[in-house]
Amino acid sequence: MSVRNLGVASLLGLACISFSSAAEKPPTDPPDAGLARIEALIARMTPQEKAGQLSLYGPADTNIPNNPQAGWRNGQQETADVRAGRITGLFNNAGLEGKLRLQQIAVRESRLGIPLIFGADVIHGFRTMFPMPLAEVSSWEPALAERTARAAAVEATADGFRWTLAPMVDIARDARWGRGLEGVGEDVYLARQFAAARVRGFQGSHLSNADSMLATPKHFAAYGAAEGGLDYNPSEVSERTLREVYLPPFRAAIDAGALSVMSAFNEIGGIPSTANPALLTGVLRDEWKFKGFVVSDYTADEELVEHGYAANPREAAKQAFMAGTDVSMQSGLYMRYLPDLVATGEVPMARLDEAVRRVLWVKYKLGLFDNPLRGLDGPPAAARAENPEFIALARESARRSIVMLKNERMLLPLPKAGTKIALIGPFAEGTTDLLGAWSLFPGQTAPVGIDQGLRAALGTHSSLTIVRGSNVESPLPGGIDAAVAAARDADVVLLAIGESEKMSGEARSRSDIGMPQAQQDLAEAVAATGKPVVVLLSNGRAMALKGAVRNARAILVTWFLGVQTGNAIADVVFGDFNPSGRLPVSFPQTAGQVPYYYAHKRTGRPTPEGAPGTLFKTRYLDATNEALYPFGFGIGYAPVRYDNVELSQDRMTLSDTLRVRATVTNTGQREAEEVVQLYTAQRAASVTRPVRELKGFKKVRIAPGASTVVEFTLTAADLQFIGRDMKPTVEPGEFDLWVAPSAASGIRRHFVLTRD
Ligand code: BGC
Repeated sequence: MSVRNLGVASLLGLACISFSSAAEKPPTDPPDAGLARIEALIARMTPQEKAGQLSLYGPADTNIPNNPQAGWRNGQQETADVRAGRITGLFNNAGLEGKLRLQQIAVRESRLGIPLIFGADVIHGFRTMFPMPLAEVSSWEPALAERTARAAAVEATADGFRWTLAPMVDIARDARWGRGLEGVGEDVYLARQFAAARVRGFQGSHLSNADSMLATPKHFAAYGAAEGGLDYNPSEVSERTLREVYLPPFRAAIDAGALSVMSAFNEIGGIPSTANPALLTGVLRDEWKFKGFVVSDYTADEELVEHGYAANPREAAKQAFMAGTDVSMQSGLYMRYLPDLVATGEVPMARLDEAVRRVLWVKYKLGLFDNPLRGLDGPPAAARAENPEFIALARESARRSIVMLKNERMLLPLPKAGTKIALIGPFAEGTTDLLGAWSLFPGQTAPVGIDQGLRAALGTHSSLTIVRGSNVESPLPGGIDAAVAAARDADVVLLAIGESEKMSGEARSRSDIGMPQAQQDLAEAVAATGKPVVVLLSNGRAMALKGAVRNARAILVTWFLGVQTGNAIADVVFGDFNPSGRLPVSFPQTAGQVPYYYAHKRTGRPTPEGAPGTLFKTRYLDATNEALYPFGFGIGYAPVRYDNVELSQDRMTLSDTLRVRATVTNTGQREAEEVVQLYTAQRAASVTRPVRELKGFKKVRIAPGASTVVEFTLTAADLQFIGRDMKPTVEPGEFDLWVAPSAASGIRRHFVLTRD
């Protein structure tokens, strides 16, 4: 029975297990000599040693901020386990010394000398912290993400890490979920580009290079679809939505060469993802031919008991392992139970060998067998020092991640000379809340705060008054009075408000995605002075903006921008950089609209255009269905105009290529950078289709007053969807197409797809 053809029942639960036999070895790379070496090792390994190759731990005696109860193992036990071959590797164990010591024990003192692998959550930088991944998606420049991932790999490998637990490629459409900012936004097409780019960046030109890191797309699968936006909650998604929305970014990452995948904490339709054979074996192995290994998320195998899926930890280990989770992270369950499960015949030896083979093969591809100590006994000092190139890249990446939502009457950019600026808000000063959720490791380059960035840009030209005004979530005694006084005395207010770093990330869901009340009160009071206000929004998610925040004259979405936050913000505020970011997630009007995303389905009762108040239509009583700021939206300092959208033909066959051209003109006074977006929608099909789907984008620079012609091509493959039989299909029919500056606007055209 093939898992692929099982339809809904397959992904949502049928325990169809298949594992390849020893005859089906990973293909040609590494060359046969390597494969033979792996087989020879497997033949010599005891079941305990095999289970050891499938057991990964955080560092002993250490509590890692993002990993609760990490330190249950002690150093002595760790050393003994390495010597006895009971560990495949460690993660988040910063520092070269410890790694060198353990690697030496592994290769010199363990019976088979199998090298350890050292992994880490290198999510948005290592020493030089780059913008949070979602922020960087706002650049709509996958090549930029590839560069920052490469830089992160260069720094992390200089600390002995050859494996990153990234990129996170979970689509997230519910802004309440705290982990959206670690990911790739709401859109499938954009997510696929960034997933692939980051894998290429981490892994470099060849996995065996000393500065290459094995990439791990996570969390497989649909972790971002957590019900109610509550972290770890079940994901109630249909198989079609899973295949159409949540799986493609993983596929893109694997096609880009990723050789490990992390399972998710969630369950889908009653089956926890860490024990879902149809996902881990059916989709990953049988359909996608994935050759790497699957690692559980942190204790996710053990958690099968709490899920109510396994009666006890032994059963949990068996379920996870037989479903296709090759490596157990942190729980120790595989070490404890796999040898016995094999002895009793509950787990076939062939499955154990298969998992070990995958792990050894990846270690081999990393070059660990040939050169286990490489980089551990002291990489070149230059590789470990602060790197000015990476800092410049961090600034570039940060300013390209900023999205300008509003700039009434061209309030921005501010002149540097002669302006009295009041910088107000809990994020105005200091260096916390700049880096984002995954800045774990010691030795990070000190971040530049907003106040520092502004001061550096202003020099002695202008006056800058700084007032905190409020705490993040509670009032500051006297704060509002001081803020109002500063605002009254200034020409313009920069209001640095929003979410703190700790309000998003793992286990940091919010039921209300609005501005905390204390800061809303601050914003209202400052606005009441009548002074022009620029909101500098700190945020880890799309927020529901209201009142004085929504009505500010200018709004810059600044997320968590990393080490160069202050400089990047100053670059945009004073016009040294023309903002070019576009939203990777829709900003709803109210918190009650979430989950909110542009590529939603129609209903039988859509709201008539121009008559939003009509009853018995799909609408809330108290809000329209539009986004406040749609996906893809963002403005710069030079306005642009779209026209002349032309299709090469208005009928295309399944084998044709449709060419779409549009003219985009910069009507402003300075160079524009525009993200020209292509969307389509099929009017009727055997399965209903979203109102719009992104099919392409191009970021172009246009000189003042100049026009450029942007061209896209579309083939039938771009118009694919998951058919009734759960397989990709293309159906002839009528399509709308938009060339647009966002998901809620653009110039519409129409074409027909015919069979021949
Ligand atoms: C997170 C993963 C992370 C792992 C190891 C888990 O809690 O869900 O994304 O890689 O911890 O730190």
